[in-house]
Amino acid sequence: MTIRVGIVGGSGYGGGELVRLLLFHPAAEIVWVAAHEQAGRSIAEVHPNLRRLAEFRLLPLPTAETIGSLTEGLDCVFLALPHGRSMELVPRIPESVKVIDLAGDFRLKDPEVFKAHYGQSHRAPEQLERFVYGLTELQRAEIARASRVANPGCFATAVLLGLAPLVAARQLIGPVIADAKTGSSGAGAKPLETTHHPRRANSFFAYKPFIHPHLPEIAQALTHLVEDRWLEHLLLQVHSAPVVRGIFASLYLTLAEPMRAEEIGDLFHQFYADAFFVRLLGPNVSPDITWVKHTNFCDIGWAVQGRTVIIFTALDNLVKGAAGQAVQNMNVMFGVEETTGLKWPGSHP
Ligand SMILES: NC(=O)c1ccc[n+]([C@@H]2O[C@H](COP(=O)([O-])OP(=O)(O)OC[C@H]3O[C@@H](n4cnc5c(N)ncnc54)[C@H](OP(=O)(O)O)[C@@H]3O)[C@@H](O)[C@H]2O)c1
Repeated sequence: MTIRVGIVGGSGYGGGELVRLLLFHPAAEIVWVAAHEQAGRSIAEVHPNLRRLAEFRLLPLPTAETIGSLTEGLDCVFLALPHGRSMELVPRIPESVKVIDLAGDFRLKDPEVFKAHYGQSHRAPEQLERFVYGLTELQRAEIARASRVANPGCFATAVLLGLAPLVAARQLIGPVIADAKTGSSGAGAKPLETTHHPRRANSFFAYKPFIHPHLPEIAQALTHLVEDRWLEHLLLQVHSAPVVRGIFASLYLTLAEPMRAEEIGDLFHQFYADAFFVRLLGPNVSPDITWVKHTNFCDIGWAVQGRTVIIFTALDNLVKGAAGQAVQNMNVMFGVEETTGLKWPGSHP
């Protein structure tokens, strides 16, 4: 089987990772890659890591008028655009073409919640119900049947993978405090005042207290898992760490009843029995963003004292937090073995 794919937003960090992964995917063929301001440039000019490996030019970004004809004949299109752009294109993509969106446009089911967290009205609310939330380990069966997948946010992936086993087992009482740190590539390729190297290198700061847009998608995914309202129990605080890639999350939790570290381990092992990309490190072992860098793995460790548990998770924001998970979802959607094209080790050290 060959899955013919198009990538919209291939000049960005997420889009560049999609190209890097899909170039070597044995069941996928990249048919075209489109960009906005960088259209017309060669892919290797924009992503120098791809020199000698890929030689094509970036097409102009499709519009609502051209996306239909451009995607016709494709099997799958990836959208890797800033928030708010995918919703202009999605309604015009033919039914026969599967869509995987890396932005936040279709993650939230309620357009009012979207407006409150993304600062803009939803312009394709009728499409929201069609999208399945693409946290592969939590919604694999639905993703397999889906033709539209909303790939999760990078913080949301790190937090949800750490929380889900305990939430599903109904072992937690609130509040849940998720304390997460990200590398600078999480903010995309265009420098802003707060993402510019002189501001971020050798520094550390918090941002978006109480209002991070990944908060409602975490709550929504947990509610989907246990049919219980989660938002009021959940706090997400994010920080800028002086690294390029990686998310590290520490989740501070209270158990309904005391548990031993081995019991926590059993619960996680059971929950992730079929999850190749979740590596459980054991009690009192911290994951490290270095070991997951450039990979689709999320590493998880835990520590427990009485009813207090800390879960540690680490992943690469551009791979398991974005493009890698998108490819994992593509595999599931097309019935290809889930790890295809993604079984790469990280590097050591
Ligand atoms: N970075 C991460 O770790 C990460 C993780 C998970 C999800 N995401 C999400 O994935 C999406 C892409 O993120 P990214 O980090 O790859 O961003 P990025 O590096 O800034 O890339 C953005 C892409 O969109 C194009 N673009 C920029 N402004 C545009 C506009 N006004 N209209 C249409 N296209 C425009 C850019 O094209 P030109 O360069 O040619 O102008 C580029 O191809 C975002 O929604 C982001 O939230 C990112």
